[in-house]
Amino acid sequence: MNQFPSRREFFAATVASLAWILTGGKADASSPSISVGAPCKAAGRERTVNGVTFVCRKEKNKLVWRRKKFPTITQATTERVLESGDLAVGETKIVNVLITGGGTTGVVLTRTETGITALRVNCSHQGFPVSRVKNVLECELHGSQFDPTTGAALLGPAVNPLRRYEASESNGGIYVTITPN
Ligand code: FES
Repeated sequence: MNQFPSRREFFAATVASLAWILTGGKADASSPSISVGAPCKAAGRERTVNGVTFVCRKEKNKLVWRRKKFPTITQATTERVLESGDLAVGETKIVNVLITGGGTTGVVLTRTETGITALRVNCSHQGFPVSRVKNVLECELHGSQFDPTTGAALLGPAVNPLRRYEASESNGGIYVTITPN
């Protein structure tokens, strides 16, 4: 697999990155994960896409989707997120996990023959939500890819792995432990 983008791909990714940084994570019709679904029509309305929450805000007389800041986690919390039978071997699901003190975080769960991997849904590049595409987790914003069983970055621009959480299984359920940031 070619790890190096062409000059054109690099330029496109750079422009998209700058837009994402300059808008503070604003998602609009050109943002792939938010383009399908409810338009931003009422200030205060929230929408969660692949485990990342956006809120509709009025800015300069325009309603825009903005990504909600990732909540600060001060205390570890463990939550039952799925029934065991809801995640087959080879399958990936994204769940929202409640955080102590309020809010949720998106977690990507993948089951293999050897166990379950839990990863934070936010791309390690600039925080856009990843989703499963064939055998990898892909970030639509700039094209980074990650291994769903380890979180390792397979394709840039991201270089760091996705944040990993502890996943366990007992009493017919799957549990995820969210640890402080
Ligand atoms: S936010 Fe840039 S590749 Fe994911």
